[in-house]
Amino acid sequence: MDIEDNLFMLAGPVKMHNRVLEACAKPAINHRSPEFREILKETRDLLKYTFNSQEHRVALISGSGTAGLECAAANLIKPGEKAISISNGKFGERLGDIAALHGDIVRVKGEWGRCPDLESIKAELEKGDVKAVMLCHNETSSAITNPAKEIGKLAHDHGALFVLDGITSIGAIPVHPKEWHADVMILGSQKCVGAPAGMSAVAVNDAAYEKLDARQSYYLDLKKHVDKLEGSGDTPYTPAVPIIRAMREAMLLLKEEGIENRWRKCERLGSAARGAVKGLGLELLADEAYASNTVTGAYYPSGITDKDFRGTMTEKHGVVVAGAQDHIKGKVFRVGHMGFCSFTDLAGCFAAVEATLRGLGHTLTPGSSVAHIVDEMTR
Ligand SMILES: Cc1ncc(COP(=O)(O)O)c(C=O)c1O
Repeated sequence: MDIEDNLFMLAGPVKMHNRVLEACAKPAINHRSPEFREILKETRDLLKYTFNSQEHRVALISGSGTAGLECAAANLIKPGEKAISISNGKFGERLGDIAALHGDIVRVKGEWGRCPDLESIKAELEKGDVKAVMLCHNETSSAITNPAKEIGKLAHDHGALFVLDGITSIGAIPVHPKEWHADVMILGSQKCVGAPAGMSAVAVNDAAYEKLDARQSYYLDLKKHVDKLEGSGDTPYTPAVPIIRAMREAMLLLKEEGIENRWRKCERLGSAARGAVKGLGLELLADEAYASNTVTGAYYPSGITDKDFRGTMTEKHGVVVAGAQDHIKGKVFRVGHMGFCSFTDLAGCFAAVEATLRGLGHTLTPGSSVAHIVDEMTR
């Protein structure tokens, strides 16, 4: 396979637009120059557009999405303070692990791919003294979008901050931060935005900003990062300049498309992908009522191994899809459809899924998945 000419369908990193690639390839620029400050200010404003809030202040953190999550946790939760972390997948669990390094974490566990139990969250909140509720909005590992609006309301009603890992939602799945009481949000450059990996952004509203306390990290002092970017248009330390240039270009493309159009496109891609999985007679990983519109997971039919499936997809058909983690590892494949993913990308991917399954001896009717994508394309 030519790895420079494949169909890249992971749930991040994602395929990049040519304008984004070109933006990364510019000569070095002084990160303390007026020219770069302008780039940073424009990136900051585009981030507010992407976060769908003019009320949040933003910080750009050089480091992947996890750095943004750690930054939020380190600045908001102190030893002895209680936070609730909701986990119905790998990333929710990890968010709890990160937060547990800083404070006392109560985990509300749920089944992967199923909506968490709101009554259990409420019961924990009613015990009192909860500083923050931390939620992975779009749980990439189990292909589910958690009910952020409802959980945000519960947090707010009980006086807790609501921290939203929006790493595979923000920019692709609607977020309404004010209405949902999302005090803190985090995104990653390589996901819905469609830029290279290596940057994260953290957004904080006034309520969260007032509570920032950086005693637990020097580099990830969120107040310092926010104040610099919102003030002089700077970062406290040398940032990942080429990735910021790429993020700016990717978010300009997002703005040209219009965020609501991008949301709508992802909704249609999600619906088409689920139709394709069902058309093949495969079982969806997530409860359809909460299924993600940026990633779709499907169980393999019996007799098909992950190694053979993804090996053939890549080697023979040049299509890269993801496997799964933990207890579903080897049982599931996942297809990402965020950022610049098109319907023709999705159709090509499922054509390869059909050819691969058929080649491995699984009986199916050619076109049984792709037909659902064509249906959505002609709607
Ligand atoms: C929902 C979610 N949260 C956190 C992360 C971790 O982000 P990163 O790998 O950029 O550090 C990921 C990565 O896939 C994710 O999907």
